[in-house]
Amino acid sequence: MSTYPLIRHRRLRYNPLVRDMVRETVLTKNDLIYPLFVVPGTKVKNPVKSMPGVFQLSIDELVKECKEVRDLGIPAVILFGIPDHKDEVGSEAYDPEGIIQRAIRAVKKEVKDLLIITDVCMCEYTSHGHCGLLLGDEILNDETIELLAREALTHVQAGADIIAPSDMMDGRVAAIRKGLDDNGFQKIPIMSYAAKYASGFYGPFRDAAESTPAFGDRKSHQMDIGNINEALREVAEDIEEGADIVMVKPAGPYLDVIRKVKDTFGMPTAAYQVSGEYAMIKAAGANGWIDEERVMIEAAYAIKRAGADMFLTYFAKDIAKWINKTTK
Ligand code: PBG
Repeated sequence: MSTYPLIRHRRLRYNPLVRDMVRETVLTKNDLIYPLFVVPGTKVKNPVKSMPGVFQLSIDELVKECKEVRDLGIPAVILFGIPDHKDEVGSEAYDPEGIIQRAIRAVKKEVKDLLIITDVCMCEYTSHGHCGLLLGDEILNDETIELLAREALTHVQAGADIIAPSDMMDGRVAAIRKGLDDNGFQKIPIMSYAAKYASGFYGPFRDAAESTPAFGDRKSHQMDIGNINEALREVAEDIEEGADIVMVKPAGPYLDVIRKVKDTFGMPTAAYQVSGEYAMIKAAGANGWIDEERVMIEAAYAIKRAGADMFLTYFAKDIAKWINKTTK
């Protein structure tokens, strides 16, 4: 292999136009999925304290926000519902008149050309904040997946385009797939949170979604932070069960997992840049300790460079604006 002085890496770096030509990773608006939180009421826009720029929105405000997101060229939102009423069995999760089901219908009626993805889980709807039905302190797997399948079906009946189960129960993808297929929704894709870690980075989300568990943690179903072989087994299983897109979550601290999943399965792969990743960049930016925009873009590049085809991010609008600003 020839070396310096024949080889000069800087030849491709002197000129910004050349740098643009040889850049291996490109961010596009098609990469972006914007998470939104829906609450009961009208004209509600509650700021989430630990996530500057993120709000809990009532349905009327959500519709306005979705129009703005669509006009920016972002193809998809993912919706999380915070119900009026929580109970032991999370009934509003699968109520056809629940907060999320009403929100989907309202957005679908008013906003064209925007994909609605819905998060399917029980934790926002149960009084105890756990991701499923409890027997004592234990989350029941097989009983819970039946409810998740019902929840997903009500979302699709209301007009959801893609279903994203985030609960990490075993067998939920198969149960949801069957529930959808039996009711004529064969064409609706499932984006499974396939490798979802029991992460401290979800802290701010639990403020936004009011879903902090009343006791204990999520370690009995979410993955151990030290594992990657297990992530591959989780992903393989979800694909077998019918997942169309597989997700790794969180994103930034698990770039190795994204790369491995993409290389192993070659599936459409999503990553979730979660609330804590967002909050850290926002906080350091607000303090003037980092250049927020620059770090936001660098973190997004890292996720794509690791192999993600798309990512969920609270920065979606800011990234879309940056793309609009910097694209000639
Ligand atoms: C569960 C769910 C969570 C997130 C997305 N879906 C929280 C959890 O598992 O505790 C976290 C997302 C984030 O931190 O931004 N419904």
